[in-house]
Amino acid sequence: MLPITDHLLHLLGLKKTTFRLYALSVILLSLLFFLCRLLLQFLRLCRHFYITCRRLRCFPQPAPCNWLLGHLGMYLPNEAGLRNETKVLDRMHHTILVWVGPFLPLVVLVHPDYIKPLLGASAALQEKDLFFFLLPCARKMSDYISAIIELSALVVRRQYRLHHYFDFIYYLTEDGRRFRKACDTVHHFTTEVIQERRQALREQGAEAWLKAKQGKTLDFIDVLLLAKDEDGKELSNEDIRAEADTFMFEGHDTTSSGLSWVLFNLAKYPEYQEKCREEIQDVLRGRELDELEWDDLTQLPFITMCIKESLRQFPPVTLISRRCTEDVKLPDGRIIPKGIICLVSIYGTHHNPSVWPDAKVYNPYRFDPDNPQQRSPLAYVPFSAGPRNCIGQSFAMAEMRVVVALTLLRFRLSVDRTRKVRRKPELILRTESGIWLNVEPLPPRA
Ligand code: HEM
Repeated sequence: MLPITDHLLHLLGLKKTTFRLYALSVILLSLLFFLCRLLLQFLRLCRHFYITCRRLRCFPQPAPCNWLLGHLGMYLPNEAGLRNETKVLDRMHHTILVWVGPFLPLVVLVHPDYIKPLLGASAALQEKDLFFFLLPCARKMSDYISAIIELSALVVRRQYRLHHYFDFIYYLTEDGRRFRKACDTVHHFTTEVIQERRQALREQGAEAWLKAKQGKTLDFIDVLLLAKDEDGKELSNEDIRAEADTFMFEGHDTTSSGLSWVLFNLAKYPEYQEKCREEIQDVLRGRELDELEWDDLTQLPFITMCIKESLRQFPPVTLISRRCTEDVKLPDGRIIPKGIICLVSIYGTHHNPSVWPDAKVYNPYRFDPDNPQQRSPLAYVPFSAGPRNCIGQSFAMAEMRVVVALTLLRFRLSVDRTRKVRRKPELILRTESGIWLNVEPLPPRA
């Protein structure tokens, strides 16, 4: 029995009985045990943090804003933030250590040889990290799109507010409430579409459904609804929703960003624009309709070069994140410790002066197939690489080639010089107030 129990019973004004003395002793001992465990866990965490900090010392870091914010205020998601990043790239060509507040270190990789161990690792060794809080988490389509845009803005803003890293604080804030609402809109839209289609499939039966679609392409939701694992188990509505949301998010905004930037570049460089126009005119010469066939896409090499160079200069996805599930060895022998979040900077790699001479210059001839350049395949990764690369890249490239070619066939583009284009990397590389182009209709083809 603990000596303090007598005193406690006295303080509580309770009579001293054997049962109470034993019960109080048990409660006090449990409490002590709980506190010891908590303290032990805290000490373990401190030790782990100390060791990690020591292991990260070999990575260079730019001077932080201050000890509390770390580098948080330096790489804001705006034009100034991107310029800061470019300045750092002039000094640090491989890896950059940045601190989000005093406790969260991130290793940013900006060189093809250094992103290789991460992107090349099997999917099991790399987890897409939730640092971006992107839970691919819509009634009318436009509500859905607005909700997606709002979600990406909120996700990015959250990264820059230290106290918003705690869920219990974040969901009490205005931003947190808007995030929940936008998530609900997105979920509601996808769930409705899935449920309607599942119902129709059930009423008609799988065989009749497939028969009706013979000769036509099965759409994505149908493929998912009909999919079964080896035990014959179907995907749940939640599984299908997660896949559909990923496709909608990864496939829509990215392509529109890529297209906007390539049209901007072609408006800025009329000589390249004219060359692209001649190319599409040649392909369509002698045809009645201004339509492209699938095979025509291979006849557009210069347009393809312009798109590729634009995706280099303005990659729609500027960075991707991975959490290392084990130590990762870099080519120079340095180790990124297990548990660390790495940011593979696509923007940084594409603007790394040690990889891309005159990186700021828009030069489609970098991608000239007749004059291949000695570059690592990982020097150019707008669609990422390795086992988790973009599965929509061929589709996106085809889509962009068609839109660029048919737009240039009908219109002449020039930049509206009265409006400045200021970049805004919000998960997707957007602009602060749009890209303004003058669009002049051309006379129809003879
Ligand atoms: C210019 C257009 C596009 C760009 C720049 C782009 C870029 C990317 C990047 C960088 C990733 C890797 C993300 C990561 O590793 O965290 C990715 C993944 C993905 N993309 Fe794209 N994408 C584009 C278009 C599309 C399209 C049109 C689709 C679908 C039709 C699509 C579907 C996907 C999917 C499903 C993933 C996830 C793959 C996985 O997690 O294994 N993307 N995309």
